Amino acid sequence: MNNHFKNKIIWITGASSGIGEALAYAMSARGAKLILSGRRLPELERVKQDCTIPEQVHLLPLDLSDPHSLENKVTEAIKCFGQIDIMVHNGGITQRSLVVKTEMEVHRRVMEVDYFSYVVLTRALLPYFMARKDGHFVITSSVMGKIGTPMRSAYAAAKHALHGFFDCLRAEVKADNIKVTILTPGYIRTNISLFALTSDAYGLGKPSENIENGLPADRAAKQILKAIKRGSFESYIGKFSGERIALWLTRFAPGVFTRIAPKLIPK
Ligand SMILES: NC(=O)c1ccc[n+]([C@@H]2O[C@H](COP(=O)([O-])OP(=O)(O)OC[C@H]3O[C@@H](n4cnc5c(N)ncnc54)[C@H](OP(=O)(O)O)[C@@H]3O)[C@@H](O)[C@H]2O)c1
Repeated sequence: MNNHFKNKIIWITGASSGIGEALAYAMSARGAKLILSGRRLPELERVKQDCTIPEQVHLLPLDLSDPHSLENKVTEAIKCFGQIDIMVHNGGITQRSLVVKTEMEVHRRVMEVDYFSYVVLTRALLPYFMARKDGHFVITSSVMGKIGTPMRSAYAAAKHALHGFFDCLRAEVKADNIKVTILTPGYIRTNISLFALTSDAYGLGKPSENIENGLPADRAAKQILKAIKRGSFESYIGKFSGERIALWLTRFAPGVFTRIAPKLIPK
């Protein structure tokens, strides 16, 4: 495990908290050189200082909801260490609201942050990976990228879109030695639900029971490192729990899952 990440140059978005923060610690502890992105510079500074090798960490603040600013960020990211080996697309927001009550603004904002920003950054970085004949895209999707349950329409749509885009990309760039790993986490204990958009684009502002009972982020990071090292095309991250069973049912017994789904209201 250790050798795979030593001196690798890894760009992580959404590194100012939760899964991205835990990944930064796990990768720094294994000798990686990191570029950490998110909007909140003070939080990125905190994460940098808590990394095992802070002097091997560059901070690159960015806003995933501002697509026009993102292409230049790729140029800046490559300049940080003169190279990028792995891009971890992880930054994102979630949503909790019924379709019938959800404003279009919410659908558009979730799609912009959770899907279009990933496309913009990938399109800008791809020619560099292709020229090097090397590179690894790691994408934090979600179990909601594979299933549909109440109150998650905007989020599930954006995460499903990631699978379509990155499955196609994987097929296109195999010959260029570029890998694509899509992560489908179940519930992971982070602050994500505090910022979940509700029907009118305001944050939920309270913790979710499911998330509070989820896998701690540091343990999720260890599972993610294994998936990256294996070069898995898709990997479930989380406890062995209802989310994992839901994935299995959707694939092998979709009719059964469709009967259960209406009862799966997030807590
Ligand atoms: N926690 C779970 O149960 C779970 C399950 C499945 C999938 N996921 C996915 O895991 C990823 C990380 O989420 P998390 O659980 O670690 O939540 P989190 O602690 O809330 O972290 C979200 C990260 O995304 C960044 N972010 C949000 N909006 C952004 C924007 N407009 N521009 C730039 N960065 C932005 C945040 O940084 P700033 O606020 O500093 O910008 C933060 O670093 C997300 O893609 C999420 O969908 C989480």
